[in-house]
Amino acid sequence: MSTANMVAVILAAGKGTRMKSECSKVLHPITGQPLATFSVQLAEKLGCSQTVMVVGHQADQVQQAFAGQNISFVLQQQQLGTGHALMVTRKALKDFTGTLLLLCGDVPLLREQTLKELLNQHRQSQAAVTVLTATMDDPTGYGRIVRRADEIERIVEEKDANAGEKALQEINTGIYAFEAPLVFQLLHQISNNNAQGEYYLTDIIALAKQAGHRVCASLLKDSSESMGINDRIQLAEATTIMRQRINQQHMLGGVTLIDPATTYIDLNVEIAADTTIYPNVHLRGQTCIGHHCTIETGAVIDSSTIGDHCLIKAASALEGSQLAEHCTIGPMAHLRPGTILQGHNKLGNFVETKKAVLGLLSQASHLTYIGDAELGCDINLGCGTITCNYDGVNKHKTIIEDGVFVGSDSQLIAPVTIGRNSVIAAGSTITKDVPADALALSRTEQKIIKGWSKRKK
Ligand code: UD1
Ligand code: CA
Repeated sequence: MSTANMVAVILAAGKGTRMKSECSKVLHPITGQPLATFSVQLAEKLGCSQTVMVVGHQADQVQQAFAGQNISFVLQQQQLGTGHALMVTRKALKDFTGTLLLLCGDVPLLREQTLKELLNQHRQSQAAVTVLTATMDDPTGYGRIVRRADEIERIVEEKDANAGEKALQEINTGIYAFEAPLVFQLLHQISNNNAQGEYYLTDIIALAKQAGHRVCASLLKDSSESMGINDRIQLAEATTIMRQRINQQHMLGGVTLIDPATTYIDLNVEIAADTTIYPNVHLRGQTCIGHHCTIETGAVIDSSTIGDHCLIKAASALEGSQLAEHCTIGPMAHLRPGTILQGHNKLGNFVETKKAVLGLLSQASHLTYIGDAELGCDINLGCGTITCNYDGVNKHKTIIEDGVFVGSDSQLIAPVTIGRNSVIAAGSTITKDVPADALALSRTEQKIIKGWSKRKK
């Protein structure tokens, strides 16, 4: 498809009153991405040379969410309607001649293929305007397509429609291909003389027609693609559809989902083949999972990288962590940001890590806190080992060198270094550095008082 002469305009200025939210509608997340992301990605995939986003309500937050993505923003101070929203891009596009693809920030389910077909039809028929339409069992709320002898005549909004028009089931999806600069000339003739007192973009159809231009309608095959998100019920419905698509992609890619209906995978997550995901798992953000991993029920994994052959047992939470291959985590382990496991590591139940590097084969099997710590290879931390990293004001570092064995119930009071191959006796509180190959023990000697318990009784 030739791309040099196509731009996208994404309408995203509206408040989204029906969301009943402090947050702009286009920033509400679907599978981990703000609603408008899907339109931005479509424009990119279709090779638009420029993407203009019309922002208004919470313009700063919207701009921030899409910063650094090669989008130009145009501010629509007052939201006077969809026609007005396109009008404000006129200056930004004053030198542009070609096809203007109009997308809405609140229509996330459109497929690339659908828009390709719309654009093909638009070009082949040399239309001035091509509108994407759909048939809905319940068209309530949408603009209706009024045809005469098969040709599209005009679009009438729900609030302006008479009973006969309301019965029409072909609706306007709000997505169009326009020829610029013609569209801007036509926009000038739009008035706000309608039920909502808004400048309707939909009026372009009748105006183009009257001016003798060719207007086409491209009918969507799968009408669910055109769902516009206006309230949180639709947000949930669209999320379910998006989630199904994502899950199907992973299954086709060789990932086993035991129960796709209860598997929650964000848009940008990558999973390699032959990995198995149990029900009720949440994979979020830029998470990347290798081959032959098993992720058990209840795991929540956010923005983490997991190497091949890892086992994440039930109810473990991982965030901002990097695991090399053959690691076993949990059940009920908590890996916080900055956790780096270099391979063949085991972190068992009720182990918490934060800013912790563990070398090859190092492990902590139960009830342990490892924070602000650097561990070498082949280290065993016994049950109940705690790096005491925080003195109430500052955080301090614990360094544990290769081959160290820490006995159960030991506290390592940072800053402290435990030398290579040394042993910490169980129940010790370590406050000073331990040299290599040493035994460190710090606990009061055991006393025996014979017969004490008998006497007490
Ligand atoms: C619009 C269409 C309707 C179509 C429906 C499809 C018009 C007049 N109506 O109605 O025919 O069936 O979409 O979903 O176009 N926006 C702005 N500035 C504004 C107003 C809106 O940027 O001044 C943006 C919104 O943020 C939103 C999009 O335009 O992303 C659509 O606006 P919305 O108010 O949701 O239009 P609908 O009433 O759904
Ligand atoms: Ca809408």
